[in-house]
Amino acid sequence: MLENNFNAIDLIIRQEQTGDHKDVFNLIEEAFQHMDVSDHREQFLVERLRKSNAFVPELSLVAEIDEQIVGYILLTKVLIRNEDQEHISLTMAPVAVRPDFQRCGIGSVLIRKSHEIAKRLQFSSVTVLGHADYYPKFGYVEAQQFGIRFPFDVPPQNCMVIELVEGGLSNTSGIVEYPPPFFE
Ligand SMILES: CC(C)(COP(=O)(O)OP(=O)(O)OC[C@H]1O[C@@H](n2cnc3c(N)ncnc32)[C@H](O)[C@@H]1OP(=O)(O)O)[C@@H](O)C(=O)NCCC(=O)NCCS
Repeated sequence: MLENNFNAIDLIIRQEQTGDHKDVFNLIEEAFQHMDVSDHREQFLVERLRKSNAFVPELSLVAEIDEQIVGYILLTKVLIRNEDQEHISLTMAPVAVRPDFQRCGIGSVLIRKSHEIAKRLQFSSVTVLGHADYYPKFGYVEAQQFGIRFPFDVPPQNCMVIELVEGGLSNTSGIVEYPPPFFE
């Protein structure tokens, strides 16, 4: 059920600016407030990631309607590493839409836009730990298909990856190495 109707034309997706940090903090806090699987600290994770080497400013995006921030997505750098090689990838964490604007398509627009920018920046894959019903519609598949493992004790169907370009994960396997802000 749509609680808020908006014209697609009113929706702006743009890179986050420093002046947005407070609104983004509040939005993430609100979006995850009633989520059982959340530690309700995703807003602090974003604060730490912004200061880390994993941060890619072009991949910190806000969705705006009528000058209000209603959605946010962040893709940061991770490595997929095995004994022989390492592959630079990204992880999507978090994606959040203000509760009164959820299920209107904003999350989908943010995810697709982040993929488009990541591809332009020459990244060839994205990893995500998330809901098995949500991400496959964007092209995510179980990471274990590529021999890619996540360093968390979660069911395999929640550990997903997408190739942004054909063969983006060919010859890539191993464990996803998250940057330190994820463990602080
Ligand atoms: C998950 C979230 C970002 C999705 O954003 P959204 O704008 O509501 O999503 P969309 O409207 O683009 O939804 C697209 C589709 O996903 C479905 N969907 C939305 N949220 C879902 C969820 N939590 N689980 C499963 N499916 C979901 C919608 O029904 C819709 O399906 P349809 O296209 O077949 O109708 C948003 O609901 C949110 O902020 N949730 C709280 C925070 C969260 O869980 N973040 C993800 C983990 S990092």
